[in-house]
Order: sequence, then C-alpha cells, then structure tokens
Amino acid sequence: MKIALASSEIFPFAKTGGLADVAGALGKYLSKQKIDIRMFTPLYSATDFSVSTFYPVDFLQDMEMWFADRKIVYSVHTAKLPDSNTDVYFISCPELYNRWSIYTEDPDEFLRFAVLNRATLEICQRMGWAPDIIHCNDWQTALIPLYLKTTYKWDTLFKNTRTVLSIHNIGYQGLFSTYIIGALGFQDYLHLLDSYDLKSNLFNFLKLGVIHADWLSTVSKTYAHEIQTAEYGAGMEAMLSYRKYILTGIVNGVDYDEWDPQTDKYIPFKFSLKAPSGKQKNKKYLLEKIGFQYDEKTPLIGVVSRLVEQKGFDLIIAVLENIINYNDVQFVILGSGHHRYEQFFQYMADKYPNKLAFFTGYKNELSHLIEAGSDMFLMPSRYEPCGLNQIYSLKYGTIPIVRKTGGLADTVELYQWETQTGTGFVFEDYSEQGLEWALNYAIETFSYPEAWNKIVKNAMSMNYSWTIQVKEYIKMYKNILK
Ligand code: ADP
Ligand code: GLC
Repeated sequence: MKIALASSEIFPFAKTGGLADVAGALGKYLSKQKIDIRMFTPLYSATDFSVSTFYPVDFLQDMEMWFADRKIVYSVHTAKLPDSNTDVYFISCPELYNRWSIYTEDPDEFLRFAVLNRATLEICQRMGWAPDIIHCNDWQTALIPLYLKTTYKWDTLFKNTRTVLSIHNIGYQGLFSTYIIGALGFQDYLHLLDSYDLKSNLFNFLKLGVIHADWLSTVSKTYAHEIQTAEYGAGMEAMLSYRKYILTGIVNGVDYDEWDPQTDKYIPFKFSLKAPSGKQKNKKYLLEKIGFQYDEKTPLIGVVSRLVEQKGFDLIIAVLENIINYNDVQFVILGSGHHRYEQFFQYMADKYPNKLAFFTGYKNELSHLIEAGSDMFLMPSRYEPCGLNQIYSLKYGTIPIVRKTGGLADTVELYQWETQTGTGFVFEDYSEQGLEWALNYAIETFSYPEAWNKIVKNAMSMNYSWTIQVKEYIKMYKNILK
C-alpha cells in the first residue's frame, strides 16, 4: 500500500501541538508495517535540522506554481523521519515559510498552505508515484481532495488515488473570504464549493475537505460522535452527520520510544510499573529545579498545554485560587498561547511563590520532566478531539484530572473507591463545580497512599502504543480501497 501523508507539522521536525506527534508517529509506525509511506510538509524557519540529514532533491528544484498571476517558486529537500525508513519531503519556499511562527495571521496564510496541498500532488507527479491513499490532516491540507477533482483532474496518475481527511481539531477550519477563490484556481468550479459559504462570502478549507474527501476520520470515537452535534460540530455537524458512514474514530496512540519513563532521555531518574521509586526522585528534582520545597505528602499538579480556551483555562482560572488557599498543593504549569492566560498564570506565580510555578514558551524537555515529576495532570478541556498529555500521564503514573469529553472520555476512567478501579478523576459538566469536585476528590485520594498506589498502578498498566493503534489506520485504509 502506498500512502502519501500531508501535514503542516511533523515531530520531531516542527511542532506546535499533538498533530505533529500523531503525524510523526504514523510515519514511523506505518513504515514498520512495511507500508510505503511518504510525507509532505513545509520547510519552516523553525524546522529542526539537527534531527536528520537533509538533501536537496535534484529533480525537484526551482519548481513554479501559479496562483492567478502570482508565481511561487519552491524547491524540495528530503530527510528520513528519525527511527524509520520514511522519506519526508520538505517544501522549501522562504517567502512563505520563513516567518516568526509556523502559523500566522498574515494575509497570505491561505497561500502558505494551498502551496502545501498543491506541492504534495506535484511532487507525486514528478516522482511518477501514484499513492493509493492521500492522507490529509486538518484544514492546512484539506484542499487536496478538491484539487484532485479540479486542477489535477487531467492526470491519470491519480485515477485510483483515494483521499482521507483526519480532523484533529474542528475548532480550526481555515476560514477566509471568497476573494481567494481566483488565486486558488477554483473560479470555474463554484458548483463544487459550499453554496451557503459562497453566499456569506466565506471560503472554508476544512469544510471543503469534509465535502470532497473519500473518507473522514477523527482522533477518538467519542469526538467522532460529538462533532455530529451542534455543541461540538462548529457549524459542520449536519454535514458530518450526513457523512457519518464514512467517518471513523481512531484514538491516538503514544510513541513510547519518546514517552516512556523507563527510557525517557529527558528525565534524570527512570522508573516503571515494576520499579516505581524513581518517580519520587523526579518529583524532588523538578521541585528543586524550580526552587520549590519538596514534600512527598503535598500533591504536585502539572499542566502542559497550549494556552487556549479549548483546554478549559477559564475553569482553571475560576477555581485555582480557592484550591490553592484551601489545600496543601503545588502547581507547575508550562504553556504558551493567549496573552490573558499567560498574564494570569504569571500573576498567580508572583502571588503564590512555592505554590505555583509558571513557564512559557515551547519547552520539550521541561514537558517530560513535568510528566515524570508531577503527581497529577490537569486537563479540564471544554472539548478535546483526543489529547495526548493525559495518555502520556497514565504511563508516568501522573494521574489525569480531566473533563469527560472526546478523547479524554475514551482514555481516562473515573477512579471508584469501592472497586479500586479507574485511572483518573473525571468530571462531566463543563462547570466550576465539576472541576472543583474532581480536584478535591483527587487531592483527598492522594492523602491515602494505599488508594493512590492502586490508581497509579492502574494508570501505568494502560497501553496506548501506536503499534496497536496504527493497525486501526491500516484497517481504515483497506476499507477505503475496497
Ligand atoms: P493539542 O494538539 O490540542 O495541543 P495534545 O494533547 O494532542 O493537544 O498535544 C499537545 C502536545 O504538545 C503534547 O505532546 C504536549 O507535550 C505538547 N506541548 C504543548 N504545549 C507545550 C509546551 N509549551 N512546551 C512543550 N510541549 C508542549
Ligand atoms: C489536536 C487536538 C488534540 C489531538 C491532536 C492530535 O490538536 O486538539 O486533542 O490530540 O490534535 O490528534
């Protein structure tokens, strides 16, 4: 089977969130299953060159692409995805990709990713390589199915190619005004666009992917149902419900080569279910590193997240001061995103030294230390397509406190005193009371070491390896090709 996977982020080359982890893991674990997978992504100024060796592809230099009367020139470099045999094709176009961040609000944002869509197809053409499936991910690559039906329709290379669009987050749709239609080359194909959007002067990348892809997937079973409802569908619920027979929910796996406390290269003390003592040492190390006092009996609650509304920060803000004032707890928070959240956590860190530490920016090593050293991991998302940190947390014995939504609902089970089953603390309603209940329940349980040890054992026994999850993808691909 030949799979072309296009993604705007691929770990370890460039990452802002879980999409990178998932794309990188799929590239690696599909190749382990002997699938011919090739990946397509931009070469950003932020791309990490140190993780692999890059070569220019000699027959893919100074290629031209037209967007109405704008000429884009790009070249292609290739590098192996680490620990795999997978070739990643990097689209080098400094005028588009040398920006201060991977995503921007610049006026040509649509063009930056339209180039990724078209270059993916044109590189396949130049290689004479006909993928069985083109796997698109999120809005940034969602136009590929439409391009196959329009601009590239003439090319018989793609006559048996099928497309699948994975929705990692329906909250980001790539919404622009219709003025870009001409530049994208769709002016003669208005009948293939969404008529409601056209009337409202909108052009929506993700929606066009949902309409034109041969198959759809998303990153957990619960989210696959949720996005068919008005509460979670972000305006696409009717369309998704209409296409539900071709919508598959596959929960994300974890690359345990990266996220396993037994081998994690970023943590000073390795530990595992069978030899758990390193966990306390990591907690002590982390607290000392941030200048906090260590006490085994004081629960340390970690957060690693993009600081955006999706992740439930409004709830955290509402309850945090109460929790800190009425309990003996410490927080360590790593995140970057909206200024108002960054400001709030900085304010709290100044107000409660030795109780709350806040770090901003993207810090991979610190994120591993927080997973290893914290007792609990807080993730009370308003919505969560899958979520990875709660799954990493399970393996690190860092008990997740989550809201029952999307992938959080599928991966964390509420701890029950009576049966001593469960892996975390789960609340249902998106409310301050819900979060306070879960936090208090967790803090209370922590004071009973026997119960806590049991829940840690339950959590650490969970296995969300990509070795297992990737088979679900292969099953889906086969199904699409039937
Ligand atoms: P999302 O993709 O919505 O951000 P996920 O839970 O799927 O959420 O994935 C987030 C990924 O990004 C995790 O690997 C997490 O460790 C990482 N991450 C998020 N914020 C930071 C940060 N500030 N520094 C380092 N890693 C981060
Ligand atoms: C998105 C979602 C997150 C998911 C990730 C990878 O960014 O917000 O829940 O885990 O994609 O699929």
